[in-house]
Amino acid sequence: MTPIQNCILNKNTKINPIWIMRQAGRYLPEFREIRLKNPDFIKLCLNTNLSSEITLQPIRRFDFDAAIIFSDILMLPYGLGQEVKFEKGLGPKLGKIDLDSITKVNKDEFSEKLNPIYKSISNISSNTICKNKDIIGFVGAPWTILVYMINKMSPKKSLSKEIFNDKLFIKKLLSIIEKFLKIHIENQIKSGATIIQIFDSWAGLLKDNISEFIYEPTLNLANHVRKLNVPVICFPRGIKNYKNFCEVVRPDMVNIDYNVDPKKIINEIQIPVQGGLDPKVLLTDKENLHTEVTKYLQIFKDHPYVFNLGHGILPETKIEMVEELVKIVRDFK
Ligand code: CP3
Repeated sequence: MTPIQNCILNKNTKINPIWIMRQAGRYLPEFREIRLKNPDFIKLCLNTNLSSEITLQPIRRFDFDAAIIFSDILMLPYGLGQEVKFEKGLGPKLGKIDLDSITKVNKDEFSEKLNPIYKSISNISSNTICKNKDIIGFVGAPWTILVYMINKMSPKKSLSKEIFNDKLFIKKLLSIIEKFLKIHIENQIKSGATIIQIFDSWAGLLKDNISEFIYEPTLNLANHVRKLNVPVICFPRGIKNYKNFCEVVRPDMVNIDYNVDPKKIINEIQIPVQGGLDPKVLLTDKENLHTEVTKYLQIFKDHPYVFNLGHGILPETKIEMVEELVKIVRDFK
């Protein structure tokens, strides 16, 4: 059994598998080299050879226990025909949203458009370097995808609050997003994904309607993954009440963000836990890294725990700090 499946299904507490969010990314010089020659990010995600290569880069360097496929949560709106671009300094920039044409997209057309991603998953899962590693497929949660689709850029840059006013529109769009996320999940599993992670990066934005806009659509997705016999990890970043989220959605494992107190959460939830460490700790020094990483490992000593961060690794992170991190986790007794 693969390491993360072992942790989740057998509740194994003896080993702490490790992988890191955004491990295939800009802190790696070999990624930056490819990126420089490929200015169109979407095209890069759809280039099976290059996306497979990028997925393997962190595995070769750090021998992580899981490979996460190089792609993006915004490939979903792209698959639905909404324009998606990535601009330097601004991040994602989405085009006009046309509910009529989105309603007309069919399953085959969508799957065909994203087919290079599935081919890449299949490549990775048959590569010997990934033997006995988990292959993590992923999607954005319906709510987070909706936020990007209607805000058209990251809420970090700017957020127009009116977008949350039209409840009917939100509900209609959420149900379309959910339908295609299920297809995207199924295609990834068929191609070899052994785990699905659901990223809800903007769960923390919402004050009201949490049940309707976050819990219900995420529960539907989680149930869909479970039906396909693959464990599901949820990352409801910034949500006020992780305990409540876990009780309703019942993920197989929950990834905590860096504002969650690990001592508190271990008393509140019984399910396996992943992540937590503030990615900024990797920008400090080795001594501090040791203290902070050991804190998490100690707290989760007798709990099924996968080591990961509390959000994506920062582009300015030094390689030697990641090497040190892996060493600390693997040497922990
Ligand atoms: O984790 C991995 O290594 C796999 C690949 C992956 C990417 N994005 C590649 C990427 C994954 C799992 C994601 C998830 C993702 N994408 C999320 C959820 C996690 C989170 O960070 O909250 C979100 C919100 C996005 C949307 C997105 N994609 C943004 C906001 C940006 C620009 C800002 C940023 O953080 O870089 C991206 C671009 C992106 N996605 C890059 C990579 C490697 C950087 C591309 C570049 O400019 O070189």
